[in-house]
Amino acid sequence: MSEKLWDGRFSEKTSSRVEKFTSSIQIDKRLYAYDIAGSVAHSQMLAKCGVITADEAAELVRGLELIKGEIESGALAYDDSLEDIHMHIEARLFQEVGKVAQKLHTARSRNDQVALDVRMYLRKETADLIRSLARLREQFILLAREHVDTIMPGYTHMQRAQPVLFSHHLMAYYEMFTRDARRLADCLTRINVMPLGTAALAGTTYPIDRHYVAELLNFPLVSSNSMDTVADRDFILEFLADAGICMLHFSRLSEELILWSTSEFGFIELSDAFSTGSSIMPQKKNPDIPELVRGKTGRVIGGLVSMLTTVKSLPMTYNRDLQEDKEPLFDAVDTLAACVDIVTRMLPEITVQKDRMRSAANTGFLNATDLADYLVSLGVPFREAHSHVGQAVAYAIENGRELHDLTLEELHKFSPGIKADVFELLQPENVVNRRTSYGGTAGTSVAAAIEAAAAELQSDKQTLPSF
Ligand code: ARG
Repeated sequence: MSEKLWDGRFSEKTSSRVEKFTSSIQIDKRLYAYDIAGSVAHSQMLAKCGVITADEAAELVRGLELIKGEIESGALAYDDSLEDIHMHIEARLFQEVGKVAQKLHTARSRNDQVALDVRMYLRKETADLIRSLARLREQFILLAREHVDTIMPGYTHMQRAQPVLFSHHLMAYYEMFTRDARRLADCLTRINVMPLGTAALAGTTYPIDRHYVAELLNFPLVSSNSMDTVADRDFILEFLADAGICMLHFSRLSEELILWSTSEFGFIELSDAFSTGSSIMPQKKNPDIPELVRGKTGRVIGGLVSMLTTVKSLPMTYNRDLQEDKEPLFDAVDTLAACVDIVTRMLPEITVQKDRMRSAANTGFLNATDLADYLVSLGVPFREAHSHVGQAVAYAIENGRELHDLTLEELHKFSPGIKADVFELLQPENVVNRRTSYGGTAGTSVAAAIEAAAAELQSDKQTLPSF
């Protein structure tokens, strides 16, 4: 058991059970680089403000950089009795540079220090995620461009509804992931606020310059209220909510990929490299990647719920409960990053069974709305047209046929004005291509939407954060 950096007022040593229970080092050790960068900036600021000398600051910085090397080479041993990464670095610094190490913690506390470390970690991870989401969005655009004339059934209630272009379906996911990327970019503006120097909760009596620290660490903003600063975890909650929504999108996509690769649908085939076999059934090719992506969604949503519950009812300001923020956050970051990466790699490997999609779009009365619209063009009120077509559908079902397989005479039983040009109109291509309303599935609209998305993605890339 080592001496504690805070044990001045204690007469008994901490029990090892308590040390084990309260320690967070195994989790927060991944913050070391941000902790060191923050301490370097803090030392330089203390020297600039005359709180320590320039030589002392130089000695602290030398020691901190040496420790960084030790951590990266695996030379620094972690020990529960030193609680967290902040304590480990400070204790090691004392061994290295001696008494001057004790000046590093002037005008700050671990409460603002941990807020700084997590904010620096999360702004980097968020920026990385926005960058990887840009690569994913690009894949949707590339795949959509290949399928501007691939027709598939569109569904509502999991029932065939109207034919759509496969590219239109893909671009629906482009939209979702674009919102996700932009939500994260918005969240980043609230993550990227510098908290150091608020000290434990009330600010400090030393003449420090928090804006100088912000400048050194490349933060555009400095937090305003010292109490809010050490108590605030909204930026984590927001990130987890954004990550959860993004995972929902991955989960919905996965569900579709799984369905489409069944023999029942047969719309796509996942490549062998992205599938797994069964240990008992030799014929199986399982969609484990999308299944795992779908399965991992629960962890990220769980992380959000866990953090909401942790923060709920906490009085001002810092409470040790907040130490519980890192596990769900790190897990959500890792999970989301892994999903973005694997799905980006999996998409171009998918084989699309165009013929199967096309023939599925040809059955199930997907052109019924168009027949009704056709009757409307002949002057039949829509409700009446709807009912006539409904009767035609019932008749076709009874006879095991589709609307476009009925003869003109048969169609006349339901609406006498129908002409022979109706058959052309009922072709899936025409059903699709007549939907030229903005945002609709017509080939021309989808091609324009794809090119607009490509331009939008280019401009989003111009404003990617530089962390
Ligand atoms: N390990 C703590 C955390 O992650 C650091 C802050 C501790 N502050 C304190 N007053 N015990 O939240």
